[in-house]
Amino acid sequence: PAFTGDIDAILALKRERNAVILAHNYQTPEIFHCVADIVGDSLALARKAMSVDADVIVLAGVHFMAETAKLLNPDKTVLIPDLGAGCSLADSITASDVRLMRQRYPGVPIVTYVNTSAAVKAESDICCTSGNALAVVESLGVPRVIMLPDEYLAKNIAAQTKVEIIAWKGHCEVHERFSPADIRELREAYPGVTVLAHPECPPEVVAEADFAGSTAAMSDYVGRHKPARVVLMTECSMSDNVAVEHPEVDFVRPCNLCPHMKRITLANIRTALEENRHVVTIDPHVAERARRAVERMLAV
Ligand code: 13P
Ligand code: SF4
Repeated sequence: PAFTGDIDAILALKRERNAVILAHNYQTPEIFHCVADIVGDSLALARKAMSVDADVIVLAGVHFMAETAKLLNPDKTVLIPDLGAGCSLADSITASDVRLMRQRYPGVPIVTYVNTSAAVKAESDICCTSGNALAVVESLGVPRVIMLPDEYLAKNIAAQTKVEIIAWKGHCEVHERFSPADIRELREAYPGVTVLAHPECPPEVVAEADFAGSTAAMSDYVGRHKPARVVLMTECSMSDNVAVEHPEVDFVRPCNLCPHMKRITLANIRTALEENRHVVTIDPHVAERARRAVERMLAV
């Protein structure tokens, strides 16, 4: 009941402004289930952003996701409810870092995780998400690639391919906090528990998990296997959102919060639509090159 005023107002504002709300799997359930039109992992949000039929897109997620939506919809208004919704991975690398990597490894293609600024994407050959990173790396048909900026994602992909991967030292502040000891304690406390991990977790964590995949892949895994008891080594709202669809599955809930994702609230989504803020803009020269990297990824 505490949310109904904002929910009703947002639903009315969406009709009035011909707006859609794209929400990442880490958004809180009242956003994810009550006001979002399109939900998913970073790859699904990028894919679905290509076919949005609306004047306004509100991105309930972090800034790089809003930039990606803007890259794919240059003529639409894209709003992010809080400009402070950043990402430790996006903050770990600049466009000039990428240029230096290109100088250091001439001719080696640069694969950039979508969790980066448009300026970083613009210096890259192709983007990837955790959902398609292996396919993107192998699509290039080369023996060696540079993969930026998530060291752990790069190492987790390197474990699955013959392609040599040169990594950067960026980390997700949420997933780097999980440890193999956490998994061992969970298995002891909850015998038989199925452990799913996001590939932004350290490789030692992924090695001890039963499955690793993007947020969408973890959600699909629960739907397909219906484990009696599961733990998702990822951001806290994931379990809340997936649990709604699987009341028969027992979700064990040690999790880590993403402070950036949590900056988005029903209240600031409502204000974003009422006051048309914060409008996402990208320098047209940067946007053209960044869009190419994202579109190359979507074509894989
Ligand atoms: P995916 O939803 O693509 O798995 O990404 C996780 C993430 O950390 C996004 O910020
Ligand atoms: Fe960035 Fe990690 Fe938060 Fe995702 S969960 S937005 S990768 S800090």
